Amino acid sequence: MAHTVRAAQWLTGSAAGLAEAAEVATAALTLDTAEAAGLIGYLSRPPAGRKWTALTTDGGVVMVSMSTKDTDAATDDGAPAGHIDLLAVHPSAQGQGRGRALVRAAEEWLAGQGARQARFAGNTPCYAWPGIDVRYTAAACLAERLGYERYSVAWNMTADLSVDLSVEDDVERLARHGVTVRAAGDDRARVTAFVREHFNDSWAWEAAHAAGVHYGERDGRVLGFAAWGARPAWFGPTGTAPDARGLGLGRVLLRRCLADQRAAGQAEAQIGWVGPLRFYSRAVGARAERVFWLYRRDLA
Ligand SMILES: CC(C)(COP(=O)(O)OP(=O)(O)OC[C@H]1O[C@@H](n2cnc3c(N)ncnc32)[C@H](O)[C@@H]1OP(=O)(O)O)[C@@H](O)C(=O)NCCC(=O)NCCS
Repeated sequence: MAHTVRAAQWLTGSAAGLAEAAEVATAALTLDTAEAAGLIGYLSRPPAGRKWTALTTDGGVVMVSMSTKDTDAATDDGAPAGHIDLLAVHPSAQGQGRGRALVRAAEEWLAGQGARQARFAGNTPCYAWPGIDVRYTAAACLAERLGYERYSVAWNMTADLSVDLSVEDDVERLARHGVTVRAAGDDRARVTAFVREHFNDSWAWEAAHAAGVHYGERDGRVLGFAAWGARPAWFGPTGTAPDARGLGLGRVLLRRCLADQRAAGQAEAQIGWVGPLRFYSRAVGARAERVFWLYRRDLA
């Protein structure tokens, strides 16, 4: 059966269309039920300059965007890649060709924007998942059926927030080294500048848009930061300046963010797109859990 796929009405301001897409996403994304609707809103507010769109069919939605980073180039000559950021078909409408039609329409849109490759891979800094959660097995089957190559793997860790997250001893020890730890408030831009200088623009965007940020400083200089709720409900990013590593600052910043997430009502936190397995395992007993396959396909 042919399915008509068109630009989502809500791109032109229809609240009804947005509510429908949110309902489809909430029903289909069974591993992300609580966040699914919010993810559509999140992906709709990407960094300035990102080209993106949303396409819908009766009972299905796909959100798609172009890479803006040179490091994401699809080819050696710098041609850009595109991303399928969110794909969902209502369970009552699955298995009838909508998923396939949405992916093909997404590829067509991407090719029209100059993309040489389509990816099921997080378009940092504003992404829903690093790739396809392996437990969304139908989605992985769909990608493989449509000629996508599995080219990388990523994972999240899960932190149980009922554990002891106290930091008093560590904070005292840091104070003896002249390091103060605090929550960012009106001074958020200062932390964002640190993130841009020591890490990258992607992380700086996340630090600027996070629900909460904690940082450490010494003699008026920011030494490290941690953020949560940039990608809704997840922890990250975090980083300590190279010359301040080994003091235990990262552990304190992590625990303070997780305590915020607990106070916000979360029982668990996803540490997104990890990174240092051992650090999170030792600092808060986090376990590797969600595994994502990253897929790509060259466009003609
Ligand atoms: C993945 C999803 C979008 C597919 O939508 P759909 O409309 O059911 O897919 P289609 O009917 O177009 O099927 C296309 C292909 O998908 C795969 N597929 C669909 N349902 C499947 C199932 N139950 N098991 C395995 N593969 C399945 C198949 O490869 C199928 O083609 P084939 O039968 O020729 O092999 C849908 O199952 C869904 O919304 N899942 C939950 C959300 C999700 O996983 N999103 C991706 C998150 S990254």
